[in-house]
Amino acid sequence: MSMNHLIAASLIASLAGPAFSQDQSAGQGEYMVACAVCHGETAMGDGPFASLMNVEVPGLTGLSAANEGIFPYLEVFMIVDGRTGVRSHGTVMPIWGDRYSRTAREEFGFYGAEVITRGRVGVLVDYLESIQE
Ligand code: HEC
Repeated sequence: MSMNHLIAASLIASLAGPAFSQDQSAGQGEYMVACAVCHGETAMGDGPFASLMNVEVPGLTGLSAANEGIFPYLEVFMIVDGRTGVRSHGTVMPIWGDRYSRTAREEFGFYGAEVITRGRVGVLVDYLESIQE
């Protein structure tokens, strides 16, 4: 895949959001690598790190239930990205937006890195939407 295709694909994925049915396994893979250590493999807030921290790690399967049955896509997106300051409380969670964009910037430049970051966060949020109880 050329770089333009890659950028176009992640741009489409991030713009289309939850209505765009994409491969959930990408989001699941990313979740298992980046999130399960704290939030748990089944997202019950019981990953191996959770017991080592002195803050409670929330489960992530009840986000829709806590929002009158509607998955709060944009809010979750901003929480996971982390750079907008939308956070429930003082933060232990890594700022994923920073992390993803810093690693992509060298290869793709500032704007390319931004598009890739949105794609990566979007794929994760789609995965979270798919596991709501
Ligand atoms: C180092 C442990 C840790 C890792 C890794 C982690 N989180 Fe979190 N997460 C937390 C904690 C603790 C909170 C509670 C709020 C806070 O302290 O930031 C939280 C809160 C959240 C929330 C808000 C939940 C709510 O009920 O408001 C979402 C969504 C979330 N995390 C998603 C993710 C995703 C997606 C990843 C992987 C990209 C991830 N987290 C990785 C520890 C972690």
